[in-house]
Amino acid sequence: MLIDRFGRAIEYLRLSVTDRCDLRCTYCIPEGFNDFEEPAHWLNFDEIERVVGAFARLGVSRVRLTGGEPLLRRNLPELAGRLKQLPGLDDLSLSTNATQLDKHADALFQAGVSRINVSLDSLQADRIAQVTGRDVLPKILAGLSAAKRAGFTPIKINMVALQGVNDDEIDTMVEYCIEQGYVLRLIETMPMGITGRQAQLLDLQPVKERLRARFGLIDGMNSGGGPARYLQTADKTFSVGFITPISQHFCDTCNRVRLAVDGTLYMCLGQNDRVELRPLLREGATDADLEQLILEAIAQKPERHEFREEPAKVVRFMSATGG
Ligand code: 5AD
Ligand code: SF4
Repeated sequence: MLIDRFGRAIEYLRLSVTDRCDLRCTYCIPEGFNDFEEPAHWLNFDEIERVVGAFARLGVSRVRLTGGEPLLRRNLPELAGRLKQLPGLDDLSLSTNATQLDKHADALFQAGVSRINVSLDSLQADRIAQVTGRDVLPKILAGLSAAKRAGFTPIKINMVALQGVNDDEIDTMVEYCIEQGYVLRLIETMPMGITGRQAQLLDLQPVKERLRARFGLIDGMNSGGGPARYLQTADKTFSVGFITPISQHFCDTCNRVRLAVDGTLYMCLGQNDRVELRPLLREGATDADLEQLILEAIAQKPERHEFREEPAKVVRFMSATGG
């Protein structure tokens, strides 16, 4: 088992398969940015499978495919299928902006991806264009329908709450998710990179209390050890999670690390601690060497992020690490 210095069991790996994205969400990647990782540095599928296999032997049972936008990585369903077959790995999920999901939903589901999170900050086409820099609401909605048809459960909607941009739409989004059978998660912006620091942070604590009263919600379960704190309807058919890194941090129960596309292992979203796995992979290291390096990395996992105390600390964008 991977246990860190603070007694936290690491059983979840977030795997970024590309740092590229077809969108430019204002809080994530600046318009005009082009300093992406070069393809020669991307871990190939064999290398990814080896690293994930090592994590699985060390007790990691859940993997989420992220980006950037993971569907930009060619043959992603093939990778998903390979990972799903690794002994010990029993939960494979995906976070996507859904602009290309209509094409890939079936293949991903067949490959063993069972749960899916879709970024959707608004239901108004002009706002989506404003936030993402692209006119993609119809594509995203088509992607969501395809995901539903394909059989993913649950489907979660990630809505980054932005003061003065979409805060007047939160109730509408709740109603939409109730109607569609989606889980909603509201997210506070994190000061990652200049884009994250300049984002219109909205404190979600008052929003949580307002939604509780308006929709008659009660405290729900904290599913899968993740950071979201949930409210749900009494009949449990709808739940809304609050990811509040700024107003209430959740580092004491952190169960995850992140692998970037270039083989950099980030121990914390909000810190710069990292271990490079690519050199070892490309120098013919053994599986035992790889496992040893992962154990050393986990031993360096920081206690918590310092988004409030040191908001300028992390210069990389969310898309570089996998949100
Ligand atoms: N703060 C919070 N969430 C962010 N995301 C991207 N950048 C930020 C940020 N600065 C989110 C996206 C998506 C997930 C991949 O990460 O909206 O839901
Ligand atoms: Fe792309 Fe997601 Fe970043 Fe938006 S938040 S630019 S969809 S990686």
